Amino acid sequence: MAPSSSPVSQDSLPGFTLSDSVRQLAVDILSELREKFFDGVGVSRETYGESETAAFMLLESYARDAGFEIQWDAARNLIIRLPGQNPELPAVATGSHLDSVPEGGNYDGAAGVVAGLAVLIAVKQTGIPRRSMEVYALRGEESAWFGGPCYFGTRAMFGQLTEDDFQTLHRDGTKTLEDCMRAAGADIDRLKTGAPLLGTSHLAGWLELHIEQGPILTAREKPVGVVTGIRGNHRHRRVVCTGQAAHSGAVPRWLRQDAVLAMADLMVRIDEHWRVLLEWGEDLVVTAGIVETNPKEHAISRVPGEVSFALEYRSQNLKTLQSFEALIQSECDQVAKKRGVRFDLGAAKLTRPATMAPEMIELLEGVCKSQKVPYEVMASGAGHDTSVFANAGIPSGMVFVRNDKGSHNPDETMEFPDFFLATEVLGGAMLAVANDQSEDSK
Ligand code: GLV
Ligand code: MN
Ligand code: MN
Repeated sequence: MAPSSSPVSQDSLPGFTLSDSVRQLAVDILSELREKFFDGVGVSRETYGESETAAFMLLESYARDAGFEIQWDAARNLIIRLPGQNPELPAVATGSHLDSVPEGGNYDGAAGVVAGLAVLIAVKQTGIPRRSMEVYALRGEESAWFGGPCYFGTRAMFGQLTEDDFQTLHRDGTKTLEDCMRAAGADIDRLKTGAPLLGTSHLAGWLELHIEQGPILTAREKPVGVVTGIRGNHRHRRVVCTGQAAHSGAVPRWLRQDAVLAMADLMVRIDEHWRVLLEWGEDLVVTAGIVETNPKEHAISRVPGEVSFALEYRSQNLKTLQSFEALIQSECDQVAKKRGVRFDLGAAKLTRPATMAPEMIELLEGVCKSQKVPYEVMASGAGHDTSVFANAGIPSGMVFVRNDKGSHNPDETMEFPDFFLATEVLGGAMLAVANDQSEDSK
């Protein structure tokens, strides 16, 4: 398959079922991951930290036990491979990330890696397909540990990490991404050449299984989602609003330059623009997930002279992200004038939205129908590694699993019957690509 090429033949989509033993293995691996990385509240697997590496080692040992070829790339992504009958043909791959947000849930990312391993084991038990099949366990998908940029492992694979990425500070303020990658065994010199670790011609297609992380599938009473596109985001790691610190009793309202009230004013204005843009049919979400006054100087009796906050907005549409940035700058200017403060938006990082390949959407829908799995076609609000594969030109698709209580929190949960259905859809779609004869030249 080439990008935007003809669809995979759906004349005889292969059935795909997981045996009881493969199901049990998937449950066991996910339980082990939960137990091993429980932090007292939720699950923590730190981007390019020891816990993430330990999760990778665990997956590697299960993959070795199952008899697969193993490879670690220069960014310390793990690739598990089942060679096909024609190993020179482009492979079909799946996978996801193994890191988590701090005190997060167990299934965000890990479900996709374990699903991929389950698919490979099931295929190996039943017959080797024409193309090789691969599972990628990917490093550092989450932005939470390094405050803004994300998809580090995947972007490294495509030679996209910049010096700014390498020098990004960890949330603890003591080390850079480069320090952490080096400590995890990554070959920084190799990565800094910018040469891709993976040529796009190596893959005929990419598919990722992920929990939905939102309420739509539950509300629609569907176990599986077929994803059409993935939101991009624009992130200001630290916006600083500076006013004038003052005595909270002695200074009247008209003489104040209160930084917190200015920030609140700005956020209310942003919220109103957001509401109007939604009414116009735009796709947008806005979040200020971190708000801080300086604990060394803030006091109940002091008008705050400074506040800093993180600002993130996401959209399916690159133009919306770009025009929203201009809108925010103009509101900052107006609030600054009105309240006698200054806004410094600081450095910002753009992560582009992505569209799933129509032939992959069609294939996944076809597999859902042939396997009689109720599904919903939907966009992804959350970001995923798949957006990097898709934007690199690899025909890409995603399968969502219904999950309860959201994600990026310790209460995130998932029902295993839903996970098995989605994994069987993933397996059916991967097998269809792996045995597809329509484009052998690639
Ligand atoms: C990924 O976890 C995201 O923040 O969307
Ligand atoms: Mn996540
Ligand atoms: Mn995720």
